[in-house]
Amino acid sequence: MTPHNAAQFEALADLYEDLSNWPFRRYIETPSILAHLGDPTGTDVLDFGCGAGTYAHLFKRAGARRVVGYDLADGMLASARRRAAAEALDIEFVSRLGPEHAGAFDTVLAVYVLPYAQTPPELERMCFQMLAPLRPGGRLIALPIHPDYAPDPAYYEPFGFRMTPQDAHEPHRDGVAIRLDLFYQQRHDASVRAWYWSRNALESALRLAGAASVRWHPPQLQPAAEAPPELAAYIRRPHAAIVECRRD
Ligand SMILES: C[S@@+](CC[C@H](N)C(=O)[O-])C[C@H]1O[C@@H](n2cnc3c(N)ncnc32)[C@H](O)[C@@H]1O
Repeated sequence: MTPHNAAQFEALADLYEDLSNWPFRRYIETPSILAHLGDPTGTDVLDFGCGAGTYAHLFKRAGARRVVGYDLADGMLASARRRAAAEALDIEFVSRLGPEHAGAFDTVLAVYVLPYAQTPPELERMCFQMLAPLRPGGRLIALPIHPDYAPDPAYYEPFGFRMTPQDAHEPHRDGVAIRLDLFYQQRHDASVRAWYWSRNALESALRLAGAASVRWHPPQLQPAAEAPPELAAYIRRPHAAIVECRRD
C-alpha cells in the first residue's frame, strides 16, 4: 500500500469504530471471526491493519496475553491508543513491523486489509508481511472482499454501504477498483477505494508467502434472537469472506 492509499483512512477512525456495531458486523462478522479463532486466552495476537483497534481491544478484553495493533494510518493509531488507554488495556499500537515481531505471534488477524493491495506484487508483499509475524503453525485469519460479492451497487445498501466496481462489465477481474461508500443510517458519508482479488489470486499470493492449508469460510449468522431478518440477504451474498491459513 502506498502512503497515498493509507491516507484515505486517516480521518475515518470514528467511522470504523462505529462500523463495528453495524448489524452485519455485530451479528455476522465479529461472531464468525471469534468462532474460527477460538478462545484467545494466553495467546499472542497481531491485529494487522488494526484501524481504530476494534479487534485488538476485543482480544485483549477476551484474555489474549500480548496484543499488538499495526496500521499505517497515524489517525487510526491515535484513536486506537486513546480508546485502549480509556479502558486501561495494555496493547501496543505500532506503525511499523520490525524483526522483533517476526515469528512472535500465534494469530494474525487482518480484517479488510487485503483489498487495499493495488497490484499483484503488492498483494504478495502484503501476504508475506501478514505471515512473517507468525510462529510456525500459527494462524492467519484474513477478510478479503468475497470473491463472489454481489457487483450490483444497490445490493448492500440495506446494510449501510454500497460497492461500485469501476469496471461494471468485469467486476470480478483481478485488480478492478471498487468504490466503497459508507453511509449507515445517514450517520456517515465517506468513500474509500478498494481492489478486487479473485480466490485464485489470493490463494496464490498466500501460498507464495508461505501459507499452508488455505481454507475459506463463509461468514455465518450466529444464533441470536434479535438479529434483524434482512441480514438473510447479506448471508446469501456476503461482501467479505474469511480466509484461514497456517504458516508452514
Ligand atoms: C478498512 S480499514 C479496517 C480496519 C480494521 N481492521 C477494522 O476491521 O475495523 C483498513 C485498515 O488497513 C490499514 N492498512 C491498509 N494497508 C495496510 C498495510 N499494508 N499495512 C498496515 N495497515 C494497512 C489502513 O490504514 C486501514 O486502517
